[in-house]
Amino acid sequence: MRILIDCDPGHDDVLAILLALAHPEKMTIQGITTVAGNSTVEHVTENILKVLDFIGVSIPVAMGCARPIRREPEPQPMAHGESGMDGPVLPAAKSKADQRHAVVFLQEEIMRQSEPVTIVSLAPMTNLAMLLTTYPEIKPHIKQICMMGGSLHGGNILPRSEFNIYHDPEAAKIVFESGIPIIMSGLEVCAEAKTMLKDFEPLKHGGRVSRLAYELMDYYSGYARERGWDYTNVFDAVPVAQMIQPELFSGAQYRIDIETEGALCRGMTVAQPCEDSFPERCVTVLEHGDGIRFSELMLDALRILDQTQPD
Ligand code: RIB
Ligand code: CA
Repeated sequence: MRILIDCDPGHDDVLAILLALAHPEKMTIQGITTVAGNSTVEHVTENILKVLDFIGVSIPVAMGCARPIRREPEPQPMAHGESGMDGPVLPAAKSKADQRHAVVFLQEEIMRQSEPVTIVSLAPMTNLAMLLTTYPEIKPHIKQICMMGGSLHGGNILPRSEFNIYHDPEAAKIVFESGIPIIMSGLEVCAEAKTMLKDFEPLKHGGRVSRLAYELMDYYSGYARERGWDYTNVFDAVPVAQMIQPELFSGAQYRIDIETEGALCRGMTVAQPCEDSFPERCVTVLEHGDGIRFSELMLDALRILDQTQPD
């Protein structure tokens, strides 16, 4: 399966990309596009270029939208630091981003494939909305969108809104109304896909990739440790894990509408069980996941990459 990953690295974005890289038998990353979210689009682009250089992997990276369609950017330094990936100290990237804007890159990369491509969305959906609006003929060439975002009940930025949707609700509305098949990993399934902090401790003695993952998790789990939690949620790794081992997850079909107004509910994903009357709007929403096996999958991936990308 050829995939394109749209992201805002982002500690959990990076771990999701590492998980994908460890399973070439399941997926090939054709390209990575970046968008403003956790930090500025410049920062998140530099972050992924640094990571790919550091682990010795060459994948085209194209920088995308610097701001949401309508809203002001709201970076998340409290979770990811000013850079969007505080913690690891990596050499400056030698690789350069593709000259094309992410939206042009996505259009050209998708159209040159003989088979429809899967898009993995791990960030605000600004690039994807611009792609679908600018090039509506692209839709049949997109097999599905596997995305992290939204929720059935909870919120992590507002009481009922998750960050990726909240940051650009107008973009999410365009994507969820596009008719493209979507597999949504929302906050509920991410909450069950826990990663235990004790499992990451030994990684600091591992290979290059494990040490990077340890430094990412050491910073990223600070929020959890401050609250006395012994786990953290690697949100963005969940849609990738579902593509690798779907049997770890279960879900149901819902119609998802995006609230774009309201001070309290902006970015809320309003879910209705999919009756026959909504067939064209049905989205697969993951609701449950096997947290232990998810964590094993993540740790196994790092061990694999320590072998394939040695020091
Ligand atoms: O709500 C979690 C999402 O917001 C993840 O994609 C994380 O990287 C942040 O962007
Ligand atoms: Ca992200």
